[in-house]
Amino acid sequence: PTYAWIASSDRNDTVRAAISVLAEGIGAMFGETPWVSALATDPDGETGKRSVGPNAADGANGADSGILVGTFAANERLREIFGVEAAELGREGFAIRTKEGVTAIGAHTPVGALYGAFHLLRLLATGADPSGHEVFERPANKLRMINQWDNIDGSIERGYAGPSIFYRDDAIDFEPARIRDYARLLASVGLNAIAINNVNVHRLESRFVTEDYLPRLAELAAIFRVYGIKLLLSVNFAAPIEVGGLPTADPLDEAVQQWWHERAAAIYEAIPDFCGFLVKADSENRPGPFTYGRGHAEGANMLADALGRHGGLVVWRCFVYNCKQDWRDRKTDRARAAYDHFMPLDGAFRDNVVLQIKNGPMDFQAREPVSPLLGAMERTNQVVEFQITQEYTGQQRHLCYLVPQWKTVLDFETHALGGAAPVKRIADGSVHGRTLGGFAAVSNIGADPNWTGHPLAQANLYGYGRLAWNPELSAEAIAEEWALQTFGANRRVADAVVGMLMESPDIYESYTAPLGVGWMVNPNHHYGPNVDGYEYDKWGTYHFADRDGVGVDRTVRSGTGYAGQYRGSNANMYESLADCPDELLLFFHHVPYGHRLKSGRTVIQHIYDTHFDGAQRAGELAQRWASLEGLVAADVYDEALARFREQAEHAKEWRDRINTYFYRKSGVPDEQGRTIY
Ligand code: GCU
Repeated sequence: PTYAWIASSDRNDTVRAAISVLAEGIGAMFGETPWVSALATDPDGETGKRSVGPNAADGANGADSGILVGTFAANERLREIFGVEAAELGREGFAIRTKEGVTAIGAHTPVGALYGAFHLLRLLATGADPSGHEVFERPANKLRMINQWDNIDGSIERGYAGPSIFYRDDAIDFEPARIRDYARLLASVGLNAIAINNVNVHRLESRFVTEDYLPRLAELAAIFRVYGIKLLLSVNFAAPIEVGGLPTADPLDEAVQQWWHERAAAIYEAIPDFCGFLVKADSENRPGPFTYGRGHAEGANMLADALGRHGGLVVWRCFVYNCKQDWRDRKTDRARAAYDHFMPLDGAFRDNVVLQIKNGPMDFQAREPVSPLLGAMERTNQVVEFQITQEYTGQQRHLCYLVPQWKTVLDFETHALGGAAPVKRIADGSVHGRTLGGFAAVSNIGADPNWTGHPLAQANLYGYGRLAWNPELSAEAIAEEWALQTFGANRRVADAVVGMLMESPDIYESYTAPLGVGWMVNPNHHYGPNVDGYEYDKWGTYHFADRDGVGVDRTVRSGTGYAGQYRGSNANMYESLADCPDELLLFFHHVPYGHRLKSGRTVIQHIYDTHFDGAQRAGELAQRWASLEGLVAADVYDEALARFREQAEHAKEWRDRINTYFYRKSGVPDEQGRTIY
């Protein structure tokens, strides 16, 4: 057998998890489950004084090859194998080396060993040569966080994969085995923190910080802890009033501060390694410091002081904007809001505050520019927030692989400090020398047996974790890893799946809102086309289409001034009609339908062409999937096929509604005379 045994001298739940992950994974891949040494499985470590399996006490003597996994502190042999090279691995890194039949996975911490175990499985599943492993890995980002938007009634805000796995009927109610599976799944890609409830914190969830709920939350924390994942809670800024019965939630009020200090102490009593609070304040009607004439820094710092003495963090969201806009007001611009609110506060936050900034200035559209706030603040910790759940990108009924979009964001050059400062180096803290930073993302899982509704939507969760660990990986490499690990070593399946994933964001963008203008969805639930859905809504996310043209003037010269929030040449590029990239044209400029794009086509002809083309390619996705019948498990095949068929139908609806709308507005016919209703 490839691996006959697994051994470790660690006596630790996390290393034990690593061992069972390896045993199961290797058993599934090679058909033979390795023998696990007694010491490695025995919780007390009293039986089995020998540290490894048959004939393998020092690895080299054994006829069979095996795996030695664990921490350097507990495994002398691992110290010998890696020597001084181990110094570079940091707290969460790992090394893998195959030498004389022994594959050694070494780390400074149990969780490092766990990450190494998953990595070995990934290498094996993607066809690496088992005899030649030589890997040194450490995560690029310190915080690699997932945000659940789950509510205690069991619903999930923007959830498209069934109800919550954490809550049911106004109670914390979970199957430990399912939570453990989720923890394992998150750890398999190196995620290390989870905010366990919706950022919109409702009545009962506001009480999560009390003894009513802390015992159950501590049980959840204990499951996640084994997999190296720390818990955060989303908190209600008005909790001192709503839960504590105080007359105010003013962050400068002493009784309010005292209340949060007591809550923090109670939380750490129950969950000693609690990660911190996630806060959505003064945003979309949520309470916040503005009510008391205070700013975001005063609000965040007050909570940071309460948590700080226990080592906790405050993750404060920057999704703050005026959500009630009058269409006549052409200066208020939601895109400007995060920067306008937070840029003046640079340097005003405590060291244990991290600002969580959405990747774009609007709200997770299929296409929008990168938030100009990312990188602008030099003296403030920041994490970039992505949305894995596909709120505006097909709601896990359409295929939309989001990793290419995230890569575009991460590689975007902010021109901070005038040097090389892509978003990924802002997020990891290196550009501005911040010690805290990383990624956050809204989860896309629910209680559906396949986790994500659309089976291929799993690739987004997988890809998010991989990028949070290593943003240098390519979207294609990640897709391939995922396909091979999910569907097995069949090259034909992997190639087909990778091709479909990689083309999917362009297909989706083609049949939905054109040229970066965004929205054009049904209000509230955000599924399906509705060009004027938000145009005549007080929420005010406009495209300003009329008979002459379309797009939002965000220039400094004649528009909202948003383009001026970028640094250096980025500001000039977006300001200039000539230099603005086609795909973002309507985000930055209002142009006539006859305006010629860099592609040579007019805006109106581009709209027609992309919509006919996108709908056609969406139809082809169903056929491409159908060619895999018999090569993927029948239930997965059926679930995905049903969704591809729905996507094909809905893409036609998008095509027809968008085309008809702009044909009737502009009066310009399609050059190719295709059917426009
Ligand atoms: C979007 C989304 C909301 C969510 C909000 C947020 O607006 O539609 O459901 O609460 O983002 O990120 O806070």
